[in-house]
Amino acid sequence: MGETSDGLHLLAASKNYAQAIQDFKYIDVIELFIKEEQRHGGDLGRFLDLAGIPRLQRNWGDTLFRKIRYAIPTMEIWTTPVIMVETLALVY
Ligand SMILES: [Fe+2]
Repeated sequence: MGETSDGLHLLAASKNYAQAIQDFKYIDVIELFIKEEQRHGGDLGRFLDLAGIPRLQRNWGDTLFRKIRYAIPTMEIWTTPVIMVETLALVY
């Protein structure tokens, strides 16, 4: 679910972070990260479709992570759950 979003909130957090550290290439890196998330999110979605597994429309964990990230839009709050989820997803 999260890997197919537009990433606008993450991009906004990255702009704040880039400003704080005065490294504006950071924004370019996050834009590439969002595109990669969308690409492999699409691949995972197609896998589910081909396997006949319905895609989730809502998930309490996704909703909780979104609410926390939107309430505290820092890169630390964004990256911690992303690293956790991406690490767990490696097996797929
Ligand atoms: Fe991912």
